[in-house]
Amino acid sequence: LMRRAQQVQYWRKYCIKQCATKTATGSEFGAIPASNTRPNYDDFIGKRQQQAQRSILVQVSSEKSYPELYNYCSSFGSIINAQHYCVRHDDDLHYILLEYASAGEASAAIDAGAYSAELSGVPVRSPFLWFRAAAAGGKRSAKLAAASATSQPLLPLDGTRQLDSGLLHSLLRGAGNIEEQVLLLHKHTQLNDLGVRMRFLAALQVQQAVSGMFPEAQAQPFGSSVNGFGKMGCDLDLILRFDREPIPSNAPAGEPSRLIYHTKENLSNGRSQTQRQMECIGDMLHLFLPGVCHVRRILQARVPIIKYHHDHLDLEVDLSMSNLTGFYMSELLYMFGELDPRVRPLTFSIRRWAQASGLTNPSPGRWISNFSLTCLVMYFLQQLRQPILPGINALVKCASAEDVRITEDGINCTFGRNFEQIGFRSRNTSNLSELLLQFFEFYSQFDFHNRAISLNEARALAKPDHSAMYIVNPLEQVLNVSKNVSLEECERLRIEVRNAAWLLESEVENTTLSESERQETAWGLLNLFKNPEKAIIRPNMFFKPRMVEVSDLFDKSQTIDPPITYKNTTVRQ
Ligand code: CTP
Ligand code: MG
Repeated sequence: LMRRAQQVQYWRKYCIKQCATKTATGSEFGAIPASNTRPNYDDFIGKRQQQAQRSILVQVSSEKSYPELYNYCSSFGSIINAQHYCVRHDDDLHYILLEYASAGEASAAIDAGAYSAELSGVPVRSPFLWFRAAAAGGKRSAKLAAASATSQPLLPLDGTRQLDSGLLHSLLRGAGNIEEQVLLLHKHTQLNDLGVRMRFLAALQVQQAVSGMFPEAQAQPFGSSVNGFGKMGCDLDLILRFDREPIPSNAPAGEPSRLIYHTKENLSNGRSQTQRQMECIGDMLHLFLPGVCHVRRILQARVPIIKYHHDHLDLEVDLSMSNLTGFYMSELLYMFGELDPRVRPLTFSIRRWAQASGLTNPSPGRWISNFSLTCLVMYFLQQLRQPILPGINALVKCASAEDVRITEDGINCTFGRNFEQIGFRSRNTSNLSELLLQFFEFYSQFDFHNRAISLNEARALAKPDHSAMYIVNPLEQVLNVSKNVSLEECERLRIEVRNAAWLLESEVENTTLSESERQETAWGLLNLFKNPEKAIIRPNMFFKPRMVEVSDLFDKSQTIDPPITYKNTTVRQ
């Protein structure tokens, strides 16, 4: 117990320190800036892309090498940020991400790199480097010089380490109320600044790899890495485009160029063209790029992707070349998150609850995805009597000429992107604990059988087909985001939201716990996360879930197994 208390104490201090650094850099998703300083999505992406251009990643023997590394690398330019993390293998591998003041300085450091017989392999120039120990003669002087140098502080240390769930639960137990628990969970599990930097560096590596043939190529992160709903350790979704839109011309404005590039003929079928190109890109990543390993091609999917693991970044990557609507969808989610400070913390709690209840699963299947679940939260916030979020159609109405985006396939992704012009401010005053309960109550009553959810219209529509769950894809409205969800999984969701509402309802009324009871028992959010510790449940007579044995709901003839063995879900009355 003493050790656990010390660990919690350590993490509290560590997190305060982390927050201080993030606030100073102003780059934390969770920080809520005043409305007129909210960065728009393109500015946010642009700033992170430039940051990646100014960065190098260096493997070191331990964080103790930092003074020497700092001293050595300072000869190429001025280092303005340094962060450390470990990749845990049999031995811990240590890395330091350095940011220079300019891209030119980072480039000078990379140009100074050398190949070594110790690391034989395909000779590729990239920002992924290794800091070799000084030669015997220079060792002492390098150490002395490093000791005397004043360096940029190395913060954070072990910056990709995630809070283990025991410690997180201890922190949540110590919170004053459920609202505070929701905020704490968000703060301690959201993707941090280092995580975002690493993801943009992975994108830059792919972009630079193809830049010889495609100087305008863009590898852009999307999905949870950039929409503000990502947690520590989330995958990177990446889209690679060979050219920008519109195609830039070097001719003076107004005068179309008379010099036209000769090009290779397109295959008649656009989809097989993309698949062939992706096969080739997959081979290139696999054969030439340092850190890239375990490359898998999933080219028959609706959106063909290449999956790979990045060893130096300890990161799973999904690369696509034809999913621009997914990219703009991430922008919509980013904007929803920025529009009201309650949106992200609430979504984090709901996503964690869904994970703990076995409703979501990292591998795709017939269960609800995090993205669909996030859409359910957004719709809930739109349909409130006092909405917390506007419908997407309202955003479309305030679009100006700069907001027009039409994809290569002709899909219109135009919507207002300027927060000032949108001017939305919710009059809803509910706190996070009330909203959480309302979310569960809302979906325990929702008619999934007959209704489809439209985030565009911020209302439910008649369901156009027999899918178990229907969420209209906001940017491709003929598609259903949750088409994959089976009837059993939809039913499981309904049961779980009822249970959660029931648990929370009893909890909200329960304000009688003493300080020591709070510390020792799972209360509030922890009840929802199915903590093995004994939960305090005081049944409420007015809100009782019906008794269902979930195992009866599985269609035994299905060949795919349920995501995890379903735990004891029989509701106790
Ligand atoms: N997307 C979409 N339509 C879908 C599925 C995904 O537009 N049917 C887009 C969304 O912008 C989503 C992104 O693709 O955010 C990435 O999808 P996915 O990786 O499944 O979800 P994430 O939001 O990244 O969540 P996770 O943390 O689970 O990866
Ligand atoms: Mg993702």
